[in-house]
Amino acid sequence: MDLRNRTICASGFHAPERGGIDVLEDVLIDVDAAGTIDAVHRPADPDYRVVREMREASGEMMTLPVGSYLLPGFVDLHVHAPQYPQLGSALDVPLEVWLQKHTFPLEARYEDLAFAQHSYGLLVEDLLANGTTTALYFATIHQAATRALVDICLDKGQRALIGKVAMDNAEECPDYYRDASPEAAIEGTRSLIDYVRSLPGNGENRVLPVVTPRFIPSCTDAALAGLGALAQECGCHVQTHCSESDWEHGYVLSRHGMTDTESLDRFGLLGRKTVLAHANFLTAGDMDRMKLTESAVAHCPLSNAYFAGAVFPLRAALEKGLHVGLGTDVSGGPSASMFENCRGAILVSRMLETGVDPNFAADARATFGPARIDFRDAFYLATAGGGEALDLPIGKLVPGYHFDAIVIDTKVEKSPIRLWDGLDSGDSILQKIIYAAGRANISDRWVGGRHI
Ligand code: GUN
Ligand code: FE
Repeated sequence: MDLRNRTICASGFHAPERGGIDVLEDVLIDVDAAGTIDAVHRPADPDYRVVREMREASGEMMTLPVGSYLLPGFVDLHVHAPQYPQLGSALDVPLEVWLQKHTFPLEARYEDLAFAQHSYGLLVEDLLANGTTTALYFATIHQAATRALVDICLDKGQRALIGKVAMDNAEECPDYYRDASPEAAIEGTRSLIDYVRSLPGNGENRVLPVVTPRFIPSCTDAALAGLGALAQECGCHVQTHCSESDWEHGYVLSRHGMTDTESLDRFGLLGRKTVLAHANFLTAGDMDRMKLTESAVAHCPLSNAYFAGAVFPLRAALEKGLHVGLGTDVSGGPSASMFENCRGAILVSRMLETGVDPNFAADARATFGPARIDFRDAFYLATAGGGEALDLPIGKLVPGYHFDAIVIDTKVEKSPIRLWDGLDSGDSILQKIIYAAGRANISDRWVGGRHI
């Protein structure tokens, strides 16, 4: 049911702050005509009974069945849209080989608009089916294909932030897949921004444009400087990869004599609307700089395991107050599911804390210090943390936020979740959902109150 100008009566969960789960029981959520949450009425509120009777009588209220739970939709902070055809494959080589051998040839195929439309259509449908109501996308260098991704997200109703990838460095990018010049990279980006901002169907800004230098190795300094200036001029989001692997981090140190973060900052690419993917090798100074500029990290735990040779020090970043959310890194990570990436974030944080080499005694193995997060943190990162990172009112079920939400049906046929009366209650139900839920459990989704 479309929920604009309607009410949903539901039980569920959200994580308005890190560490705290707000358990919602039989709340009434009023959604306004624009798809924004107008009010949340709780059973303890003095007027709850009266409001509930009024909403029921109006015939404009949807009630979730027992065993179904309302959650904020997921915010995936790092998706390479063109890499969807190679999801779950080609993960046996290092990043720099993977790019040249597998990824650039695949991305080059998006020159073909029909291929792009087909592939992007499947991706957006599958991400929505997995509960991702907002995605921050890298597209390719191609204007037509990137515009097609914009059109598809609008058509299918996903909230999306989309960048034409800028990559013009002939030293690192192949002839067959490269912006012809810094000007081509910059003007192509400007052209996509203009397209997104003037699209008639995009009045509510459900799709936003993103300045997207692929990463420092693939861009010339002229392109990076021009893209920084363009981001300042247009006030739009920025995304790139940062200090991802030993090779990448080392490349930037040797080319620029400084870290990725320092270099991106001098080009004007760090700000409140910047999302840096990975950021595994951040120094203490880099973290200070990110805090100062209010830029965010897209933590991609599954991808870290394949390409980084290290794990992002998530807990340290959170304790420092950095904005952090989660990314699947399709296809550097092998799963498009944010549930899988929540589980991955918990898992890698535990291994970072304990160490993993059984040849050492426990205390000698644990070299890193406290690093573990739990399901509450992971859920926060996948929802409110992502919204915070993007500076958008999404990821929480509170007044003033977009009603972007999903329903987890724990009773669906072949559900991997089993709940026991008298044993499971409160946020332990959410814990089971985070650890076990999959696509089959997601029965409904809304973006801006629209049922999709
Ligand atoms: N660095 C530059 N391009 C990419 C990419 O496509 N995926 C990942 N994981 N890292 C990158
Ligand atoms: Fe990536």
